[in-house]
Amino acid sequence: MKKTVRKAIIAGNWKMNKTRPEAKALLEEIKPLVANAGEVEVVACVPFTNLETAIAATEGTNIKIGAENVHFEKSGAYTGEISADMLTELGVEYVVIGHSERRQYFGETDETVNKRTKAALAAGLKPIVCVGELLWERECNITEEVISRQIKLDLYDVSAEDVKKTVIAYEPVWAIGTGKTATADQAEEVCALIRSTLAKLYDEATAQAVTIQYGGSMNAANCAELLSKENVDGGLIGGASLKANDFNTIVHAAVNG
Ligand code: 13P
Repeated sequence: MKKTVRKAIIAGNWKMNKTRPEAKALLEEIKPLVANAGEVEVVACVPFTNLETAIAATEGTNIKIGAENVHFEKSGAYTGEISADMLTELGVEYVVIGHSERRQYFGETDETVNKRTKAALAAGLKPIVCVGELLWERECNITEEVISRQIKLDLYDVSAEDVKKTVIAYEPVWAIGTGKTATADQAEEVCALIRSTLAKLYDEATAQAVTIQYGGSMNAANCAELLSKENVDGGLIGGASLKANDFNTIVHAAVNG
């Protein structure tokens, strides 16, 4: 990865796991392990109920806290939703947007991903925008079309200045929670495609400044090879982010990558 031009970011996506005491215990375990991560940005994206606990537990450390979703309206009659202002007021810095689980189970579309991304940016949050193809789409050889369409729609009307604050996570849907990882070459191919799409939409310098992560069964064993690729600037980690030692191994692979 080109650490000289862009930030390496390793983010855990805890999904629907951990009560508050469990969240605190996991962060206490992770904190000393990743304290020497240097230039690598370490992020834990946790359930809404854990945000305040996680922020308190990581105060004064190099761990940043993210949410796993955000609503696009500022406030109002949206029962069960959480606004970007509510997150920033807590001290949240990142937010995962458009994860395939939200697209698959909760009706998230590129239009709502785009709205959420813009709302997050307007409030000063750094969005981690997830894109990725289904197995069926890869088999039909339309990965390139699917990914470039998602990038164009999800980032519609996002300025060059704002896109530099946005993280893109390439998460092939067939690799999430399945133990099937994209090969390092497959990950690099799509991350490079995302960067060239950004260069067309914006310009080369802007595209070079955007952090692009890989996610999907990244673990302690396969992280070094994935993170050694030029266009893989970090990882969005599910299962392995719930194990302090494995998460730390991935963080340090990024330090060395
Ligand atoms: P796994 O690492 O468990 O495959 O999950 C990846 C993911 O969805 C991260 O957002």
